[in-house]
Amino acid sequence: MEKIVSLCRRRGFVFPSSEIYGGLGSSYDYGHYGVLLKENVKARWLEAMVREREDIVALDSAIILHPHVWEASGHATGFTDPLVDCRTCKLRFRADHLADARCGQKPSKHPGETSDCDLTEPRHFNLMFETRVGPVEESGTKVYLRPETAQGIFINFKNVAQLARRKPPFGIAQVGKSFRNEITPGNFIFRTLEFEQMEMEFFVPPDEADQWYRYWIDERRDWYVRLGIRESHLRVRPHDADELSHYSSATSDIEYLYPIGWSELEGIANRGDFDLTAHTQSSGTKLEWVDSASGERYTPHVIEPAAGLNRSMLAFLCDAYDEEVVGDRERTVLRLHPLIAPVKAAVLPLIPRDATITEKARALYEQLRRTIAVEYDDGGQIGRRYRRQDEIGTPWALTVDEQTLEDDTVTIRDRDSLAQERIPIGGAREALLDRLDAPWRSPKTD
Ligand code: GAP
Repeated sequence: MEKIVSLCRRRGFVFPSSEIYGGLGSSYDYGHYGVLLKENVKARWLEAMVREREDIVALDSAIILHPHVWEASGHATGFTDPLVDCRTCKLRFRADHLADARCGQKPSKHPGETSDCDLTEPRHFNLMFETRVGPVEESGTKVYLRPETAQGIFINFKNVAQLARRKPPFGIAQVGKSFRNEITPGNFIFRTLEFEQMEMEFFVPPDEADQWYRYWIDERRDWYVRLGIRESHLRVRPHDADELSHYSSATSDIEYLYPIGWSELEGIANRGDFDLTAHTQSSGTKLEWVDSASGERYTPHVIEPAAGLNRSMLAFLCDAYDEEVVGDRERTVLRLHPLIAPVKAAVLPLIPRDATITEKARALYEQLRRTIAVEYDDGGQIGRRYRRQDEIGTPWALTVDEQTLEDDTVTIRDRDSLAQERIPIGGAREALLDRLDAPWRSPKTD
């Protein structure tokens, strides 16, 4: 994990938030390549969930919802973590994660393991951030920053079902920020105070719930595989009965083998009719499906694939990170699937001080950038420029050299195999688009 954190910092993917003020635990800012990578993952999710399907529509609901939403959903009372305080070192720990925490006085031990540790009984601590609507703090209405995007979907069920003219089975997909007052620090962007979720609520006839639950587990696992995650590093783990959330009758996590061990990447839950029934009772608005032709009516059941965008990005980074020795040189390379790589190709003039070569390279860059995410780089030795592109995961480099001036060809270098081929400069765009279209598998073997 330290190597990933260091690469992310060095190349401007992700850095600690509020750093000039000493940082804020579990909060990160995303730099240029981090934003591009995150946006690419989000785009692939929206493509798979909305653009390529006829049975799912998109939604962007508000972050601050009516406070009754969180009472009806059970979050106001039930969305808690059990916490313990140590009276000796004054640190606070999650009672259910003591084995992952370090003692404040003896970091080689876990809290409670030394004779000096003096832990309180566990107390329940709500994870929702509170704020107030209205200019006067005392008289304002207490509201919450949403801890999940899902509730914004449930409360819009009636609007969307009518306007989108869909009948179950159909889904509503949403990507957006969620906020949780997590006290378990660390592990980079795995668990943070604010994060983006990619959630889809799939509304189905009750007797089809189990079949769709299984369908979405397979579908979501395959999405990660299609985007290059090694199958050896993915597994599906069904929850035990005592792990299930209050709304769920069955949940399976898709787990990734992060450097911190197997951990949740995405959860797929069968939420039954819990949410639509709870909001119907609380709001008085019937959230049910009514077939206008037959008069049939029922409360749909919900299957929910809930993924974390930042956590997916971390999995893609971990899976892509590689080091190898080429000749007598070590190189670090991000073997990202080309479709999510922040930059698809770099255009590099071999001899930056040769104006004819740089002019030609610049013209190629200007032509490509209209349709493909490309970068122009004429700073420093060619070897250093290749290494820089390898570290940000750029799959191809197009190099303009003296031969280009003679025969209008450029070399295309492959990030993974390091193979170089000469192609006509006029065909560079097609060559890149063909390569982006081709299936890709990680060359990493472990
Ligand atoms: N609507 C269901 C729900 O929110 P969840 O398992 O609590 O379920 C779904 O969250 C996903 O959101 C997780 O699998 C994870 O990828 C991501 N996630 C949850 N809490 C997170 C946090 N504090 N930081 C980063 N990602 C988080």
